[in-house]
Amino acid sequence: MEKIVINGGRPLYGDIEVSGMKNAAGAILIATLLVSDKCIIENLPCINDVATTLEILRHMNVEVRMLDKNTVEIDTRNAIGGTSPLDLVRRMRSSYYLYGAELGRYGRAYAGYPGGCDFGVRPIDQHIKGFEALGATVTCEGGYVEAVAPSGGLRGANIFFDLNTVGGTINVMLAAVRAKGTTIIENAAREPHVVDVANFLNTCGANITGAGTDTIRIKGVDKLKGCTYAIIPDMIEAGTYMIAAAATKGRLRIKNVIPKHLESISAKLEEMGVSVEMGDDYVTVWRDGPLYRVNVKTLPYPGFPTDMQPQMCVLMCLADGVSYLNESIFENRFRYVEELKRMGANIKVDGHTAIIEGGTPLSAAQVHAHDLRAGAALVIAGLATEGRTEIEEIQHIERGYDNLVGKLQSVGADIRKVILPDSYGLAKAN
Ligand code: EPZ
Repeated sequence: MEKIVINGGRPLYGDIEVSGMKNAAGAILIATLLVSDKCIIENLPCINDVATTLEILRHMNVEVRMLDKNTVEIDTRNAIGGTSPLDLVRRMRSSYYLYGAELGRYGRAYAGYPGGCDFGVRPIDQHIKGFEALGATVTCEGGYVEAVAPSGGLRGANIFFDLNTVGGTINVMLAAVRAKGTTIIENAAREPHVVDVANFLNTCGANITGAGTDTIRIKGVDKLKGCTYAIIPDMIEAGTYMIAAAATKGRLRIKNVIPKHLESISAKLEEMGVSVEMGDDYVTVWRDGPLYRVNVKTLPYPGFPTDMQPQMCVLMCLADGVSYLNESIFENRFRYVEELKRMGANIKVDGHTAIIEGGTPLSAAQVHAHDLRAGAALVIAGLATEGRTEIEEIQHIERGYDNLVGKLQSVGADIRKVILPDSYGLAKAN
């Protein structure tokens, strides 16, 4: 076990390089199963979810060769469908892309139900609706999902999603890319990683148009060929560092970003009195005055991202006045509030809205990371607070942030990882 220890209250100054996007990498690595050839994927983040995904592929008889720490060569010619190990599949949400990729490649998918951050019920009914529209028969039994195409193979269909789903949009795209005929997905998710997956598949010879809009058209092709593809930068990692700069009253230049992806985050920060300067592939963020209160509602892209919700809550705690934060995407994404209250935050959660009374400094404390972005938010809270803050359960953070501690140390944070003796876990358990 490990924990993060922070001596906070120091402004962050300097440059930080953003890594490849976690939620694009997870989908694209699994999408290589559709290609049945060699692919080289570049700009991979060094995070546990990528390591888990590559381990799953190896278990499926896929040849995986790291060319360097951010580049992998994947050969899926001898991949065996339906063989993903349940214990690895259950570690993350993006395992569900195995359904679409196996269905698209073999005409049959068989994999365990995914894991991932606990925000309440996270159904996959829209994924199943899409697969069934393409002609597949889907059964969910004993913690596994099985999808079987008809003997003539999947056929293109018109699918209208009942709600905005990133995973559902990508999964149906994977299943449809080699189906007979044309599939049209309406009410599709528009997130940048949906576009990245479509671009990867098109680079392999697929015929997908409209990704990034709410209507995606997929003309089925017989075969895909291997390619070399670089993952887009992680907009949520970038946004996390933008908020860290504002929270610590420092100045950070965050490099290797696509500014367009950060527009909703920049707009809210400027509303709070934070300065944001956009370059071609970087964004500079600084604050030298007070933080003003603000209202935020999380929305599908291009709205304010739900994956930035906990981080924004911390900034609202530091702002003068009462801010309102509405979570419109997930059932319950406020578990981290209890941890912020241990640091003296004055937050009341009323259904899907957190009411944050800012203005009083937080106090250092020992806290727990319940999930990936909540953990990142607690790191920001510790950085912005005088004294020693300790964060446990940091395995959640390591699922999705590439070298968070090292990157923060490089811009002046007094932060380090401490390995806890095994007895510590036992002592806490008793
Ligand atoms: C993806 O989750 C991301 N995860 C999440 O990022 C992100 O928060 C989310 O998209 C929204 O942007 C990955 O890409 C691995 P959804 P996903 O399908 O696909 C409901 C992070 O921190 N829904 O867009 O699960 C669902 O319950 C993680 O990086 C259905 O009801 O999100 C949720 O309320 C956290 N039925 C809403 O829709 C379905 O069939 C949006 O879910 C599918 C979804």
